[in-house]
Amino acid sequence: AAHKPLAGRRALVTSGPTHEPIDPVRYIANRSSGKQGHAIAGALARLGAAVTLVSGPTRLPDPPGCAVVPIETAREMLAACEAALPADVAVCAAAVADWRVAGASDRKLKKDGGGPPALALAENPDILATLSKAGERRPALVVGFAAETGDVVATATAKRARKGCDWIVANDVSLGTTTFGGADNTVHLIRESGVESWPTMGKDAVAARLAEAVAAHFQTV
Ligand code: PMT
Repeated sequence: AAHKPLAGRRALVTSGPTHEPIDPVRYIANRSSGKQGHAIAGALARLGAAVTLVSGPTRLPDPPGCAVVPIETAREMLAACEAALPADVAVCAAAVADWRVAGASDRKLKKDGGGPPALALAENPDILATLSKAGERRPALVVGFAAETGDVVATATAKRARKGCDWIVANDVSLGTTTFGGADNTVHLIRESGVESWPTMGKDAVAARLAEAVAAHFQTV
């Protein structure tokens, strides 16, 4: 028989970068490819979950069996996530821009001889923190990612507490790693019960192992 331990469960996954407009033709973004988040959405769907994947712009095909909601900005991602509730589990793998351009121009900025424009930034909503504090609408299991440089486990442990999620998957994104955009990932799964450091694996294998951990969690609660 097919192994479908998440049948009847609803999952919400975020993936990819956000694009924050400067003007109609320019934006601020980051190097996320969506590979890790899309792989997680696909892995949860293979275990039987009904998956909504809220994704920023990527070059990837939609993972089989997932309802994909394309967005561009952090604020659109938050609205799409809230519309996808209720969910049993949320996994936030997106690299959401922390800041957007305040008062983005609706006309193309021009070189008018007055020197470069000054871009003022405004803080974006934090989707992971919002889902973690969603009261009655809070998914039973909220999983964040932490993209860190330096002391990866310590900073990710602090981030888990600050954002209020249940689990956090920490990965090293220092210069020289290809965590952003590459095929492999080296992660630490941080839970209340402790830290599991996984060997370097393909992002599909990280996703499959994380989906199995989610399934095991729901089997024991
Ligand atoms: O897309 P790939 O090329 O496959 O790369 C994968 C990845 C490196 C993007 C992924 O593994 C990863 O680490 N994703 C999280 C990236 C990130 O922005 O981390 P952070 O430490 O800045 O954010 C912490 C958590 O808060 C994340 O779950 C993030 O989705 C969430 N967040 C952050 C800011 C914000 N405004 N809203 C959020 O929900």
